Amino acid sequence: MKIIDGKLIAVEIQNKLKLRIDELKKKNITPGLGIILVGNDPASEIYVRNKMRVCSELGVNAVLCRFNEENTEEEIIKQIEEFNQNEEIDGILVQSPLPSKFAEEKIISHVSPLKDVDGFGIYNLGALLSNQEKIIAATPLGILKMLEHENIRIEGSHVVVVGAGLIVGRPMAVLLLNRGATVTLAHSKTQNLKEITRQADILIVAIGDARFITDEYVKDGAVVIDVGTNRVDGKLYGDVDFLSVAPKTSYITPVPGGVGPMTIIMLIQNVVDACERKRDENGSKN
Ligand code: GUN
Repeated sequence: MKIIDGKLIAVEIQNKLKLRIDELKKKNITPGLGIILVGNDPASEIYVRNKMRVCSELGVNAVLCRFNEENTEEEIIKQIEEFNQNEEIDGILVQSPLPSKFAEEKIISHVSPLKDVDGFGIYNLGALLSNQEKIIAATPLGILKMLEHENIRIEGSHVVVVGAGLIVGRPMAVLLLNRGATVTLAHSKTQNLKEITRQADILIVAIGDARFITDEYVKDGAVVIDVGTNRVDGKLYGDVDFLSVAPKTSYITPVPGGVGPMTIIMLIQNVVDACERKRDENGSKN
């Protein structure tokens, strides 16, 4: 069994990104990320703070616009339109979830597809589904990088993704389908889950339920990717019961230190990619 070290892989990607950002800086270009945070959900506060910290460490200019429950959808959309027009902003993210009074899909639909660095808009989701990938959501992209880093075979493998959310499960399933995996997407209504997950060569779990996946859910020698970050009594747990599952696996990601560290760096990679694409397009017009 090998523990996949997400921190280490993230640092490798971060070092490569830093070189690209430094190259842009030599041309007086600073990649910019516009962040919209609505309300004061404690988990979102932490996510946004961490994203801004890594941006600052790498030299990406992160601009945070905060809104509260008293603001209107129109005010948030106006800010998105401003970011869409702003030459210094290459990527825009609307931190999810929004407070329930706001229509999240409607708000996100205003983000320019070229700046949709979360890949949550329907243009980028449609591009993924039709195997013409453009911007891919950070967490699935980070998981793909981890599998590739460990030379884990995707083509022809049976991947079971548990959890069909828009941030991880759905894009993850399609991303691996596009690479020739046989994919089963299981979710909260799935029956006989154990029988299905036991068929997985690669099991990816994103359900938000601490230590739900125990050893009976896992085939001997499987690769297990744990996307869960569940806080219980102040301690962080994945969706996988690491102690019982790890000995059965060929590879497993820990929590913390697995998928988590990859997510922010892949978001920033999406920002730098968008920045370079814009520069290349501007260059080709001149
Ligand atoms: N909330 C939890 N994960 C994410 C993410 O990757 N992007 C955004 N925008 N919100 C999130």
